[in-house]
Amino acid sequence: MIFSQVELAPADPILGLTDAFKADPREDKVNLGVGIYKDESGKTPILKAVKLAEEKLLQTEESKSYLGMEGVQAYNRAVQTLLFGADHTVVNNARALTAQAPGGTGSLRVAAEFLVRHTNTDTIWLSNPTWANHQNIFQSAGLKTQSYGYYKAETHGLDFDAMLSDLAEAKEGDLVLLHGCCHNPTGIDLNEAQWQQVAELCVAKSLVPLFDFAYQGFGAGVEEDAAGLRIVANIVPELIIANSFSKNFGLYNERIGAVTVVAANDAEAINAFSQIKSTIRASYSNPPAHGALIVSTILEDESLKQLWHEELQAMRERIAEMRSLFVASLKEYGVSQDFEFISSQNGMFSFSGLNKVQVKQLKDEFGVYIVGSGRISVAGMTKTNMPVICKAIAAVL
Ligand code: LMR
Repeated sequence: MIFSQVELAPADPILGLTDAFKADPREDKVNLGVGIYKDESGKTPILKAVKLAEEKLLQTEESKSYLGMEGVQAYNRAVQTLLFGADHTVVNNARALTAQAPGGTGSLRVAAEFLVRHTNTDTIWLSNPTWANHQNIFQSAGLKTQSYGYYKAETHGLDFDAMLSDLAEAKEGDLVLLHGCCHNPTGIDLNEAQWQQVAELCVAKSLVPLFDFAYQGFGAGVEEDAAGLRIVANIVPELIIANSFSKNFGLYNERIGAVTVVAANDAEAINAFSQIKSTIRASYSNPPAHGALIVSTILEDESLKQLWHEELQAMRERIAEMRSLFVASLKEYGVSQDFEFISSQNGMFSFSGLNKVQVKQLKDEFGVYIVGSGRISVAGMTKTNMPVICKAIAAVL
């Protein structure tokens, strides 16, 4: 007998909350745990651009035969344009090669498996705090994890000095996980001068950036949010990007992302990419097509692309509106503590500073679910649930 020895896994810090939320019978419960965009009516919509692309695919798709290990080629080209812009030297010099992969998690895992098996890197540096799944993914693939300072609780801001001094301890060839934009969970991003400094540190110490880029377009805009990545790609010779379209195309359950390797020259890129493909072969052979075809259909059609940009902008603006309303409503419900810092955070999340006891109280007493770190998904707030959320927070503070 083998299964009798298996222990029960602990609940996942983010997805486990969704399970608990579903089982909660209270009618006014609110799930602000997982990062899923909700519209004003509390629904996660399918974008119009996605529906139109699917209609087109229904008419034009001719086969469901296997894709290559690297996925849909038109999609991979479109990913590179979103990441690097229309005219970047890493693309023009064939130093960047992209493989479609299943969502952000799948892309990170493919990257990690490739790095462990085919390079001599053994350690990845993660920001403190970081996405609750990062450690899990990298350790499962066999990497050691270290952490670098990022957040200063007293100021609710970036601790850039700690970031630089911790990364100065990294050894040659270590990986540095960087959040491309909309840092998860803090919502605090580097400015361009800071990106430049991080890029220079990576060059000086021969560190390899691994970008987790899951929120492009949820910060300031599609192009603006890629500024940090492009600054790094301008001077760092080797990097990897794991990107996801779960959020910005609303394609959560299509599991669509990509892993892009940037090597020092085209010949090394070809070798690295061949091993990324063999990593994919050993894992799931080749990716599913539908999500990639939706994204490439939209990005290759000017009017669908324009519609997508508009819909993404509307999501970004609604989140910003909820952020301001959240800060104002907390005041209205009698919270004297200053939460103004939430207004300057980027993306889907606000890092509230609530502690574990308060987080538990919010869930147990008020049915308001947020992540244990104090991360709140602003993208799940609406004008309707705002009073419930703010009253509960006022009561636990
Ligand atoms: C999140 O951080 O909530 C999302 O990236 C969803 C997930 O898989 O955790």
